[in-house]
Amino acid sequence: MRDVIVAANWKMHTTPADAAELARTIAARTREAGVIRVICPPFVCLAAVREAVADDDPPVAVGAQTVHHELAGAHTGETSAPMLAGLASWVILGHSERRRDAYETDELIGRKLARAVDAGLRPILCVGEQLDEREAGRATGVVDEQLAGALEGHDPGALAAAGLVIAYEPVWAIGTGRNARGPDAAAMADAIRASLERRGWASRAADVPVLYGGSVTSANIDEFLAEPAIDGALVGGASLKPDEMAGIVSRAGLTARARGTA
Ligand code: PGA
Repeated sequence: MRDVIVAANWKMHTTPADAAELARTIAARTREAGVIRVICPPFVCLAAVREAVADDDPPVAVGAQTVHHELAGAHTGETSAPMLAGLASWVILGHSERRRDAYETDELIGRKLARAVDAGLRPILCVGEQLDEREAGRATGVVDEQLAGALEGHDPGALAAAGLVIAYEPVWAIGTGRNARGPDAAAMADAIRASLERRGWASRAADVPVLYGGSVTSANIDEFLAEPAIDGALVGGASLKPDEMAGIVSRAGLTARARGTA
């Protein structure tokens, strides 16, 4: 059975002074057997958050929001995957805000993926279409191309062993309060696994966790987790609110129990 995962993407919010407290509060309110909890704060808060949740049970994983595609070198302001040793065990890659703000391409995201896996980080690869692409009936094709670009040259066995997670995040749903419909997200999760299957993943594709992301809240999480194809959520805005996280993870706990993973 696939992992049930709730990942918090704090984006460019919190400071080292307040991140620890927020992480502790969220951790204390989201203890659900069988749900993998991941908190992804800004780089400068990784150490504080890691320390704050170090003894939580079940464990809370800490993730970065990106890594550089090189191991080291003259790249002012950047952070490489090996630098995260002892700070993070997960990493978000290819988030649409980085595609937009840092001009990340699928090819570049593929290189980041290699660095992440080599460093032992569990990757959450984000894909998702723009509104005009969905309206033109091209959503599945766009996501297929993103997967093709990022996964080109990667060994499916190695990525499967690294626990690759795909987050389907339609760009028009991120931070807009306008979430996708559960059945549409589930159809995309199926399309994602079919895409992996065509790219040499064969039966391993069925084991890849697919999360939904885009204006997830405690009020709409049920719509997504009611879909067997969806294994959890990548949560942005609501992940900074302990009440919201409590509701979201509690609903994920139901899924974990139904799947027998709790
Ligand atoms: P949102 O962000 O929940 O605020 O829409 C999700 C994300 O960007 O991962």
